[in-house]
Amino acid sequence: MCGIIGYTGKEEALPLLLGGLERLEYRGYDSAGIALIEDGKMIVEKRVGKIRELVRSLWGKPYKGKTGIGHTRWATHGEPSTENAHPHTDEKEEFAVVHNGIVENYLELKRELESEGVKFRSGTDTEVIAHLIAKNYNGDLLEAVLKAVERLRGAFAFAVITVHEPGRIVGVKQGSPLVVGIGEGENFLASDIPAILPYTRKVIALGDGEIADITPEGVNIYDFSGTPLTKEITVVPWDIISAEKAGFKHFMLKEIYEQPKAVGDTIRGLISSGSELPFSLKSFRRVLIIACGTSYHAGLIGKLWIEKYAQVPVEVVFASEFRYSDSPVSEQDLVVAVSQSGETIDTKFAVNYARERGAYTLAIVNVVGSSIDRESDYTLHTHAGPEIGVAATKTFLAQLAALYFLASSEHPQKERLLEELLKVPSMIEKTLEDAEIVEKIAQKYMKMKDFLYLGRYLSYPIALEGALKLKEISYIHAEGYPAGEMKHGPIALIDERMPVVVVAPQDRVYEKTISNIEEVRTRKGKVISVGFRGDEKLEKLSEEFIPVPAVEEDLSPFVTSVPLQLLAYHIASKLGLDVDQPRNLAKTVTVE
Ligand code: F6R
Repeated sequence: MCGIIGYTGKEEALPLLLGGLERLEYRGYDSAGIALIEDGKMIVEKRVGKIRELVRSLWGKPYKGKTGIGHTRWATHGEPSTENAHPHTDEKEEFAVVHNGIVENYLELKRELESEGVKFRSGTDTEVIAHLIAKNYNGDLLEAVLKAVERLRGAFAFAVITVHEPGRIVGVKQGSPLVVGIGEGENFLASDIPAILPYTRKVIALGDGEIADITPEGVNIYDFSGTPLTKEITVVPWDIISAEKAGFKHFMLKEIYEQPKAVGDTIRGLISSGSELPFSLKSFRRVLIIACGTSYHAGLIGKLWIEKYAQVPVEVVFASEFRYSDSPVSEQDLVVAVSQSGETIDTKFAVNYARERGAYTLAIVNVVGSSIDRESDYTLHTHAGPEIGVAATKTFLAQLAALYFLASSEHPQKERLLEELLKVPSMIEKTLEDAEIVEKIAQKYMKMKDFLYLGRYLSYPIALEGALKLKEISYIHAEGYPAGEMKHGPIALIDERMPVVVVAPQDRVYEKTISNIEEVRTRKGKVISVGFRGDEKLEKLSEEFIPVPAVEEDLSPFVTSVPLQLLAYHIASKLGLDVDQPRNLAKTVTVE
């Protein structure tokens, strides 16, 4: 959470920083700020609210500085306010710092600095970094940063500039993401690749414990002891077009429509990178899938596929819960970390926990070069491209494709299964043809206060995911439940004011789900069903019916999830909410 950007080069830094911050805004949007060095002076501008507030405040201030840093904040320590917005400076305003993550021992450091007479101006942990660097500065920014870093504990990334050395930015990575962008006569630092994609596709992904020292002329990387490192430059295959809205009202809608491509690219990417995996699922005692949020829901579906095709027991665990458990993980386990960003701190720590205990770790990630990608033994990349909307959509379906690929890896009819999987993108396209039906339903139900989502077997995680999508972008209370469990409690909630979304493809549990729909109808609940096109029985039983193309049982999640994404999208959009940046959320969760 929080986005960092840094630029040093031949251009005026301000527009580049603001453009980068807009592309990073999905990481947090409580406040934003920039610092520039101009004529030997430090200029700092910050505002509470979104980047557009900062941009407005800069009208009529034509700053020309060619080195600067910027920040968009998701508050952890200190409420969202101008004082707490980044960049933070030392007392003399000679050093400015932008920071993502948490300095865990900041209180101890703050007390120490205060006892030396330093006056703090914010309630943030970040400010200690600025004061520590100023205190340790002796003519060389890198040296001062190395000394400051020795004192810091926690997971963080930060960038610092100083008036004493205009043209130089030092960036530090320890737990939170930071990449270096390599340009011609200019160089960049950013929390995420899309922020710098309009300017360069050449990047160096910093590892934990690494420091980048950048000037317009060059980039040097060191470890925390100051030893120079040689790092590989990666050329990113995405381009800026895929990070823009391309005529859609919101990124989320664009990303929903990109799903056929995201799934197709993922399947083709996995097949062409060699369909033989370097391990056998069957050689493990169990598979442990670890993830958060939407990625966790993908994991629940992956479990059912792996158990069916590979006959290996699978457990799916929330990373935040797993981390503090005493789970007996060993080398007999395969630990699969599913993460779009590859930076979610809980998932990352879970991977480390598993590795320390000798488990083989497999990552399923979208962001190439992210921490989880680098720290796992093997990675299946989802080729969904950058996802900007905070609510995950296309990366969810791409994760499903990767999990299906994994599950089918040792099945005797693997080729047939993959052929079926290759038909999925066109099935998703057909599903999108009925988007209008979903929009009308959204119009009718957008004022409801609660929703229940039901499904069984593969449709249960889809119900959970549908409810999560609605909650996070429309702020309407929604609960996902296994349809068969409803009679053990939640059925008491049902009355004529309760819309009940039921995911009911014609699969092994279809008849059972139909019985659950009858139970809802008897209690006057309003059934909105998602089922195979032509299913007249389901249509008759439902207040509203959303058709999806009939697919093989195992592939139904790829089509049934799409109308639920659209339902959440249209409700939130009609309510006039900020679909791409819902309140209180951030795309990448790098705090516990
Ligand atoms: C919901 C959503 C989140 C993420 C979760 C994990 O739409 O996007 O629930 O799925 O924060 O993030 P990753 O997959 O990056 O580890």
